Amino acid sequence: MNFLKYRDNLLYLENASIEKIAKKNVTPFYLYSFKQLEKNFTYFKHTFASTNPTICFAVKSNPNLTFLKKLRNLGSGADVVSMGELQLALKAGIHPSKIVFSGVGKTNEELTFAITKKILLINTESENEIDEIIKIAKNKKVKVAIGIRINPDIAAKTNKKISTGKKSDKFGISINHCEAIFNKYKLNKFISIQAISVHIGSQIKNINPFEKTLKVVDLFLKKLKQKNIKINYLDIGGGMGIPYSKSETIFNLTKYGKLVEKFNSHHHLKIIFEPGRYISANTGLLVARVVYIKKTKSINFVILDAGMNDLMRPALYDAKHEVIPVRKNNKKSSNLIEFVGPICESTDRFITYKKYQHLKQGDLVCFTNVGAYGRSLSSTYNIRPLAGELAVQNTSYKIIRPRQKLKDLIK
Ligand code: LLP
Repeated sequence: MNFLKYRDNLLYLENASIEKIAKKNVTPFYLYSFKQLEKNFTYFKHTFASTNPTICFAVKSNPNLTFLKKLRNLGSGADVVSMGELQLALKAGIHPSKIVFSGVGKTNEELTFAITKKILLINTESENEIDEIIKIAKNKKVKVAIGIRINPDIAAKTNKKISTGKKSDKFGISINHCEAIFNKYKLNKFISIQAISVHIGSQIKNINPFEKTLKVVDLFLKKLKQKNIKINYLDIGGGMGIPYSKSETIFNLTKYGKLVEKFNSHHHLKIIFEPGRYISANTGLLVARVVYIKKTKSINFVILDAGMNDLMRPALYDAKHEVIPVRKNNKKSSNLIEFVGPICESTDRFITYKKYQHLKQGDLVCFTNVGAYGRSLSSTYNIRPLAGELAVQNTSYKIIRPRQKLKDLIK
């Protein structure tokens, strides 16, 4: 997080004091830096400049309207996976010609809406789905551009809960089946297969799985060529990982850029990317307050007012988000400490530290790198309102989505 710094032992995001913001807002809340968002998007765009891709931000990683508007202003498109995300992307002003629709279970209602809006691509994931699109297109007397998502049967070497490219995963269609699909539908009047799409998983930190995937795609495109079948787009999905702590390796985006450039010098396709985490993760903090400290012989539980309902990733994927104090001090904690939430579940625990500074009731802390799959994965479990979302603005902030009101939750 490039814009997160201590000044005189107080934590600032850009030029805004987090302590000051927390005095005026109920914790826990998400706090974003749009400077960081711009930096990330611009870096991504520059790194792939030679292939001039359409960058379709994966809305699922951060579906905040203001966040999406910022991205639209920077030139981003959107990768959506539901009616809600599609409507949100349109509301943010993202042009339909920059929107791709992914997912294994798009309903007739969702497909009809996407077709009416003339979005760039519907990436299909089964023959059943293609037939559903044909039905709708026939009815409307239109021809619909679709992509076929392939399943390259490649291990993404990431957490198995976020891997999507093995044949045992529900995503995409095997290469053999894809060939049969191209043969079956190539002359169809209501669809035109314009793209191949692929997405093998998330938080991938090594380039090898991407390299292997491009090899599979390369072979498949050669087969299509032999049959005189031409497509226009390759949608390479997202999945690029980020370091969640200082000791973690950084994904080599430059190397990936060169790989894609080399690949495309043979195929001359329009390239689409669907990055989520790489663009949004390090833009956000979750600010929380210490409710109690419960001391035991072996460990001090630091009980926060943020729970697994606010930040699900540790409970769901054993993810580690560093927790840092808003006000630094020189006193040491006497014991091992574990940050936990207030939820009645044993998995409502975040991270353990052998050494930490002294903390007391009422102190503020921040979870780092929570701009992706943070607020978007949260729930109201235990009847806890969804956290507010704020963005820093100069020395102050603005609320970009208010905290959910308890009275709306208990209606
Ligand atoms: N495209 C498709 C088709 C996807 O399914 C996904 C993510 C993306 C793009 C964006 O992937 P990214 O660039 O963010 O890795 N909740 C999990 C991550 C699940 C990702 C699901 N699909 C987590 O918190 O780690």
